[in-house]
Amino acid sequence: MRNYYIAANWKMHMTVSEAVALAQDLVAKLGKSKERVMIAPPFTALAAVAQVIRGSSLVLGAQNMGPETKGAHTGEISPLMLKDLGVKAVILGHSERRHSYLETDELINRKVLLALEQELQPILCVGETLAEREAGKLEAVVGGQVREGLKGVSAAALATVTIAYEPVWAIGTGKTATPEDADAVHGYIRIVLTSLYGEAAAKAMVIQYGGSVKADNAAELMAKPNIDGALVGGASLKAETFVPIVSFR
Ligand code: PGA
Repeated sequence: MRNYYIAANWKMHMTVSEAVALAQDLVAKLGKSKERVMIAPPFTALAAVAQVIRGSSLVLGAQNMGPETKGAHTGEISPLMLKDLGVKAVILGHSERRHSYLETDELINRKVLLALEQELQPILCVGETLAEREAGKLEAVVGGQVREGLKGVSAAALATVTIAYEPVWAIGTGKTATPEDADAVHGYIRIVLTSLYGEAAAKAMVIQYGGSVKADNAAELMAKPNIDGALVGGASLKAETFVPIVSFR
């Protein structure tokens, strides 16, 4: 039976004390989950949450990182700083970074390469907007983001990369891609990965779905052959909505 990888993206929510309380709740309820579970609090809560989840199976993640290790980069966070706090995984290229903060494929690729060099496990987010989907550009956009995001990533390093397919129109909107629709795009991503790395590597790749994942659609989504987990935003902010997603089976 395969294991799933479920990641919580808390986005710009939670003071330190709120984050600690949620993390304590999650450790109590998910500390022994058979699924791989990552939580990504805001930067300011990473150190405190790291203490809470120490010794549990929960993995600490960051929501972003800067593209350099150190230097004159006001406002940026280095992978060295993240590792220092016990961070193991990092979300890169989230659509909110791409669209609100104008991150390009080239910048995201630099971050992916640096994360790998620093032994942080990247979750590379890809996904089309509604306008792109309606213009028939889904494959070109998603395929391009996968190709550009992974440029220079070796076959060996690929094993620690996760891809999250998050259609932009489904994030935080309550609209979910149908399981069939999402599975088809995941299948397409595997075709792209096959062309880059061969069939075995493409098959082994973990591809999460993200975009309004909730307890009541998680099982149906993850039953699909190409969906290996979820990246959860809104529903990850409370144990009562996140725990049932992780415990979907
Ligand atoms: P959502 O966010 O679950 O609130 O749609 C998902 C994400 O942006 O990662």
